[in-house]
Amino acid sequence: MSTNRQILLIETPKGKLAPEHFRLRRSEMPSPGEGEALLRVRYISLDAANRAWMQGATYRGAVEAGSVMAGGALAEVIASKTPEFVPGDLVFADTGWQDYAVLPAKALIKLPHIEPMTHLLSVYGIAGLTAYFGLLRIASPREAETVVVSAAAGSVGSIVGQIAKIKHCRVVGIAGGREKCDWLLNDLGFDAAVDYKSESVFKALKSAAPRGIDVYFDNVGGDIFEACLAQMSIGGRICCCGAVSAYDGAPPTAGPRGIPGLIVVKRLTLKGFIVTDFFAERDTAIAELRSWVASGRLKVQEEVIEGLENTPRALVGLLAGENRGKRMVKVA
Ligand SMILES: NC(=O)c1ccc[n+]([C@@H]2O[C@H](COP(=O)([O-])OP(=O)(O)OC[C@H]3O[C@@H](n4cnc5c(N)ncnc54)[C@H](OP(=O)(O)O)[C@@H]3O)[C@@H](O)[C@H]2O)c1
Repeated sequence: MSTNRQILLIETPKGKLAPEHFRLRRSEMPSPGEGEALLRVRYISLDAANRAWMQGATYRGAVEAGSVMAGGALAEVIASKTPEFVPGDLVFADTGWQDYAVLPAKALIKLPHIEPMTHLLSVYGIAGLTAYFGLLRIASPREAETVVVSAAAGSVGSIVGQIAKIKHCRVVGIAGGREKCDWLLNDLGFDAAVDYKSESVFKALKSAAPRGIDVYFDNVGGDIFEACLAQMSIGGRICCCGAVSAYDGAPPTAGPRGIPGLIVVKRLTLKGFIVTDFFAERDTAIAELRSWVASGRLKVQEEVIEGLENTPRALVGLLAGENRGKRMVKVA
C-alpha cells in the first residue's frame, strides 16, 4: 500500500500566511467506493484565492484548521468505480494538497490530453477562463478603448491584458516591480505599465490613460481599485474579479472612497463573477484560447515548482508577488 503525503492547514493565520501554518502528514493511500475514482495528483494549482478560503466561507466553504489544505489540481484517474471515468483519464478537481485523493464522479471535470499538460492549469484552466469570461462577458471592451488590469503580471492578469490587445484595446497593466512592468511592455505588448510599488498609481494612470479608463479589470481591490475608480470614463465598466490586496492579513478597516458617488456620476457598471458561472461555454472559450496560443498572439507564462512539500512556500511566495504568470507545483 502506497503512502499518501498530505499537507494540513494546522492553524488559521491571523496575519500573513507562513509555511509554519502547515504540516506534512503521512497516511495510507485511500481506496474508492462505489461511484468514486482514485486520483493521482500530478500538478497542484496555486491560486491567490487559496488564502481567501482561510478567511471564511466564500463561493465555497472555508478551509478549517486541521484539514487537508484545499486546492484545485490536475490529476490522473488510477482506479475507478464509476463508469464515467477509466484509469488514464485526466481530470481537474479540488483534490487538496496531497498525493492521492478519492472523489465522486460529479466532482471531476474530464480534460483532454494536450501537450504540455501544464497548459490545462494555466491558459486552458481557471486562470485563462477567468481572464476570458471576465474580460469578454463582464466588461465587453470595444476596439480602441482603454483597459486597465491589476495584478497584471499574474496568471489571470497577464492573460486579460493580452486578450485586450487581441481585441485592439489600449492596455495598461498595474504590477509590482520594474522587472514585471518591463516584461508586460516588452514581451506581452502592453501599451503602458504602472509599478504600484514605486510610484503613485493615481498619478501614473493620469499619463498612462490620459483619456480615462473605459474598462478596469480588478484583481486586487483596495487602494488600486480606488485610484482606478476615480479615473473611469463615463459609461465605464469595472469587472470585479478578486481582491488579493485583502486576502493575506486582517481585512481593511475602510472600503475604497468614491462609492457610490463616482459610480452614479460616471454611470459606471460594476459586476462581479465567478468563473464557473460560465462553464457551459467552456469548450468555446478553450477553442478560442487555443487558436490564439497556436498563432502566437497569446503567450503562456508558467512557473512550475517541484515537490508537494514545497507547496506552502510556493503559496506564500505567490501572495508576496514572487510569481510571473501561472504558478503550480509538480507532485508527480
Ligand atoms: N472571480 C473568479 O472566478 C476568479 C477566478 C480565479 C482568480 N480570481 C482572482 O484573480 C486574482 C488573481 O489571482 P491569481 O490566482 O491568478 O494570482 P496571481 O495574479 O497569479 O498572483 C497574485 C498576484 O497578486 C499580486 N499582489 C499580491 N498582493 C497584492 C497587493 N496588496 N496589491 C496588488 N497586487 C498584489 C502579486 O503580484 P505583484 O508583484 O504585482 O504585487 C501576485 O503575483 C485574485 O484576486 C483572484 O481571487 C478570480
